[in-house]
Amino acid sequence: MVYPIILFLHNALRWLVLGSLLAALFSSYSGWLSSRPYRPLDRAVSVLTTSLAHTQLLVGLYLYTISPIVSYYWTYKPGFGESTEFPFFGLIHGSLMFIAIVVMTVGASKAKRQTDHRQRFRTTAVYFTIGLLLIGLSIPWPFSPLASRPWIRGL
Ligand code: HEM
Repeated sequence: MVYPIILFLHNALRWLVLGSLLAALFSSYSGWLSSRPYRPLDRAVSVLTTSLAHTQLLVGLYLYTISPIVSYYWTYKPGFGESTEFPFFGLIHGSLMFIAIVVMTVGASKAKRQTDHRQRFRTTAVYFTIGLLLIGLSIPWPFSPLASRPWIRGL
């Protein structure tokens, strides 16, 4: 069945998205604060981060179409009283993640057009920080009160 494979992929990709996002934030804040020149590696980390986020977006959209939790949500429209998981995955998770990825994409393309190196670091730092906050808040961490999912999922 394709569902467990996509769920596994979506779970694992979350770590790559978070890892690259933290690396991009490290490069942008350190560059901004030290006023060093913007190097090709800084651009590469930013491109890698947005590419991984776009891949996660596509996998997430596909998962949305096959998830039994989402289909239950749209069939019965349960409220938060029944289980917070249904409205969380039916509405909240995907919407906030989508907004986070749009914010990061806008930031990365804005930074690309800027010529001042410090400005470029600053733009990446600000937009990617907003992205990290939204993503961090929307992940169904094992300790999350809305929906709890494992740190790592086996196949
Ligand atoms: C950076 C973006 C995203 C991250 C980091 C992320 C992360 C996660 C994680 C960690 C899970 C739990 C997986 C598991 O049960 O092992 C999950 C579940 C899910 N995600 Fe995402 N997600 C992202 C974007 C999206 C988007 C854009 C959508 C759809 C519009 C989406 C739809 C779903 C659905 C439907 C589930 C639950 C599936 C189920 O249990 O049946 N995700 N996500």
